[in-house]
Amino acid sequence: MDLGPRSLISHPQDSQDCCPPPTHRDYLPQMQGREKEKAVGDLKQALPCVAEAPAVHVEVHQRGGSTAKREDIKLNVRKLLNRHNIVFGDYTWTEFDEPFLTRNVQSVSIVDTELKIKDPQPIDLSACTIVFHIFQLNEDGPSSENLEEETENIIAANHWVLPSAEFHGLWDSLVYDVQVKSHVSRCAFSQNAFSLIQMGPPGTGKTSLCKALAQKLTIRLSSRYRYGQLIEINSHSLFSKWFSESGKLVTKMFQKIQDLIDDKDALVFVLIDEVESLTAARNACRAGAEPSDAIRVVNAVLTQIDQIKRHSNVVILTTSNITEKIDVAFVDRADIKQYIGPPSAAAIFKIYLSCLEELMKCQIIYPRQQLLTLRELEMIGFIENNVSKLSLLLSDISRKSEGLSGRVLRKLPFLAHALYVQAPTVTIEGFLQALSLAVDKQFEERQKLSA
Ligand SMILES: Nc1ncnc2c1ncn2[C@@H]1O[C@H](COP(=O)(O)OP(=O)(O)OP(=O)(O)O)[C@@H](O)[C@H]1O
Ligand SMILES: [Mg+2]
Repeated sequence: MDLGPRSLISHPQDSQDCCPPPTHRDYLPQMQGREKEKAVGDLKQALPCVAEAPAVHVEVHQRGGSTAKREDIKLNVRKLLNRHNIVFGDYTWTEFDEPFLTRNVQSVSIVDTELKIKDPQPIDLSACTIVFHIFQLNEDGPSSENLEEETENIIAANHWVLPSAEFHGLWDSLVYDVQVKSHVSRCAFSQNAFSLIQMGPPGTGKTSLCKALAQKLTIRLSSRYRYGQLIEINSHSLFSKWFSESGKLVTKMFQKIQDLIDDKDALVFVLIDEVESLTAARNACRAGAEPSDAIRVVNAVLTQIDQIKRHSNVVILTTSNITEKIDVAFVDRADIKQYIGPPSAAAIFKIYLSCLEELMKCQIIYPRQQLLTLRELEMIGFIENNVSKLSLLLSDISRKSEGLSGRVLRKLPFLAHALYVQAPTVTIEGFLQALSLAVDKQFEERQKLSA
């Protein structure tokens, strides 16, 4: 792992292994000796990118069995990029002419350009600083952290080693209005240790975004941390099983987390999902409906969070459903507070477009037809012609789907197929009609439920 100070001046086409990780402002004064020197080095490294050539991040997914050296991979990817000097926004290569790349690399992706600029723009790679992030995926699924008590085995947390195959592509699959991902990632990339709370209605992708962010940060900071550890604490199990044991089990679980934190090669993400279930317990307790154990457990969690937050290799991720009362104790502890609402019509259009793409790939929608993006529709002034007709219909369906959550939207195309197509394959026209009916049905059902 390269931990030495890096060059202060970056020339176009100069590469670094990872995104410059600037130092945490609050953390810097407490650092000593070499640690401080290193942090200052990181900070220096972070500065030129702002003033000089814009950085373009290239994520290189190295094949599982490949043992190729990073330097060789970088060299070959650079040759590939040199052949494609201009790109439009994010772009992924999965097929290569070069045998070396075919043998060792699964994909090469230019990423996150759309976080800075809303619409894809031509990017002249020769005028940019290319920042390489080479990673291999961990194919193992999650392991569960059990806390064995005398009578039962409590599954307290799930644990992944990152970057994990399970979360591959998750970041890209989440569609928000530009600010959500750019806000979260900008804050995250510019700090070492931080805590984040995602708040919003059910099904808006809060949990998914936390996991995707953990994966993204692990890849981005891979020259600094060899791998990531994601521990997802099961708030419901805290709620249902641990109260009788008071804070003892909480302490035991956080001791296991502390062991992971002690390995300074690891960036440790602690995800506490649905904190409102803890809050609800505490509030019920205040009203005298629960034993005082509830308060002790929640307070133990808060105390433990405060303790592990002090370490520079820890990121605390929390989510909360706003349909319940939000606990200010958790919100106040977060450095970054992010509200996520239901997707806008533009985001819905993109979500549907990606679902249609999947259905065309597996030939459920056949024959394949190219749809225009919303940007392309805008460029032709939304004028209807043979090329734009179907895309305009999709845009209408997206507009009338506003208010539905990301979870429902992702399911709707498959529901539409099951309910209204009832044939192995369908044309895109037929499918869009079915989708439109499925959206109407969704709102009808909602109305019935609220009546
Ligand atoms: N904006 C979005 N773009 C794409 N997919 C989305 C979006 N929002 C949600 N989804 C999809 O919906 C599903 C549910 O998301 P997730 O569980 O992360 O939501 P949540 O906000 O945590 O929900 P809950 O409040 O019920 O826990 C996931 O498969 C996710 O990919
Ligand atoms: Mg969730």
